[in-house]
Amino acid sequence: MRARLTTVFACQSCGAVSPKWLGRCPDCGEWNSYIEEARSDRPALTVEPAYEPISQATVATESRLSTGMPGLDRVLGGGLVPGSVILLGGEPGIGKSTLLLQVARSIAAAQDVLYASGEESAAQVRLRGERLDIREPRLLVLAETEVSRIVAHAEARPPAALVVDSIQAVRKSSLASAAGTVSQVREAAGALQRYAKARAVPVILIGHVTKDGSLAGPKSLEHLVDAVVTVEGDRGGSRRVVRASKNRYGAVDELALYEMTGQGLVEIANPSALLLAERRKGVPGSAVTASREGARSLLVEIQALVGPQSAGSPRRVAIGVDGSRLALLLAVLEGAGVALASREVFVSCAGGLEVTEPSADLAIVAALASSARGRALPEGSVWFGEIGLLGEVRTVTAGVSRLKEAAALGFDEVWLPAGNAGEAAGFPDLRAHPIDRVSEFLKRMSV
Ligand code: TYD
Ligand code: MG
Repeated sequence: MRARLTTVFACQSCGAVSPKWLGRCPDCGEWNSYIEEARSDRPALTVEPAYEPISQATVATESRLSTGMPGLDRVLGGGLVPGSVILLGGEPGIGKSTLLLQVARSIAAAQDVLYASGEESAAQVRLRGERLDIREPRLLVLAETEVSRIVAHAEARPPAALVVDSIQAVRKSSLASAAGTVSQVREAAGALQRYAKARAVPVILIGHVTKDGSLAGPKSLEHLVDAVVTVEGDRGGSRRVVRASKNRYGAVDELALYEMTGQGLVEIANPSALLLAERRKGVPGSAVTASREGARSLLVEIQALVGPQSAGSPRRVAIGVDGSRLALLLAVLEGAGVALASREVFVSCAGGLEVTEPSADLAIVAALASSARGRALPEGSVWFGEIGLLGEVRTVTAGVSRLKEAAALGFDEVWLPAGNAGEAAGFPDLRAHPIDRVSEFLKRMSV
C-alpha cells in the first residue's frame, strides 16, 4: 500500500493549496507564502435530517443583543444577532481587545459572557480590565488555546456571547500545523461557527491584520463569518474608525468613530465637529463636503494642493479619495479651462477618513480650483454633488440629511446640484447655490 499524502502546502495569504511548495502563489501573486500544513481530510459525514420547511425556519434576527456601544450596534445593523459569527479585524495594538472587553462588560451586567483569551493570560486580561474598571462577576475569562476546550466550556455553561481573542492564537490540536496557519484558523473558526449556529450564541472572533491590509489567514474566513468588522486608525493618534466590510445582517457603509482614552474607547458624539476642528480658515485648497456614511452624513474637509509647473510627467496623488475619480475631475477641469495637465496635484481627505462617494466631486473641484488660483473659498460653505464626464453636476441621494448636518454645524452656504435645490428649501439658514455645470460653477464661485 502506498503512503497517503498527509500534508499539503497552503498559501498563507489567500489560502490556495498545492501538493508541492511554490515560491510564488499562482492565485494571489504573493512570494514565499507557502507553508506545509496537515491535510484536513475528513471522513464523509453521516447526518440526521435537519431540514425544515422554509415557512417554519426560525428567524431569530429580531432578538438582537446590544453591545452596549451604540456606534458598534449601528455598524452591526442593530446589535449582535444570535448565532452569528463576527470577525473583528485590525492591526495589533489598535484596540480590538479593549473594544471587546468593553462589550463583554456591558453584556455581563445581566448575562454571562465567555472571553476566551489565547493571546494573553487571564491575569493580563484582568489587568486590562482593571484599567477599564471592569469587575463584572459574569464576565468569565478563559485562558485557552485549544478550540475544542473553548467550545466545551461554552457548552457547559452557555454564555450570552462568546469572544475569542484571537482566532490566530487558537488551534485544534488534532491538526499538526501551527496556530495561525490557514488550515488552523479555518478549522478553529469552523468549530466555533458550528457552536454559534447550534446554540444560537453570537461569537466574535478577533483577527489580526497583516501589514498589507489582509486578514492573515482569515482571508479564507471572510466567507465563513456573517460579518467582518474592522478597527482602523492612526496608531500614533487616538482616533479609531469602526466599520463593517461585510454584513449579512446590516448595511456595510455604516461607521462609528471612537477616541482611545485612558478609560478605553469612547464614542465621538459629534464626529463632524471633530473632523473639522483642525481646519484652517482662509487658506486656498480647502473645501468642506457632506459625505454619506451609512445612515448619516458627516462633514469632512477635502484638501487640494496644486504644485507649480513640472517637467516630465507630473504626480497625481489621492489620499482618502478615489484616484480614478480624481483623474476624471482633472480632465473635466481641464475642459472647463483650468489648466492642470502639467502641474502636480495632491488631494486628500483630512482626518484620516476615506471618502468613496462621488458626491465629494464638487468639493474636490472647488478645492482644486481654489488651490490652482491661490484664492481661498468662501468660509461657511459646504459643497456636494457628483460630476459627470460631460461636466454636468448630478443629483445625489440623501440631500436632506447632508443639509441637516451642514445646518447643525453652523454652515450658512451650500453649493449643490440643481436637482437637489428643492431639498434646500427646508433650510432657511442655508443659502443655496444650485449648480448645473462645472463651467458655470467655476464662474460663479469667482475664486
Ligand atoms: P488592545 O486592545 O490591546 O489592542 P489589540 O487587541 O487590537 O492588539 O489595545 C492596546 C492599546 O490601547 C495599548 O497601546 C494601550 C491602549 N489603551 C488605552 O489607551 N486605553 C485603555 O483604556 C486601554 C485598555 C488600552
Ligand atoms: Mg489584543
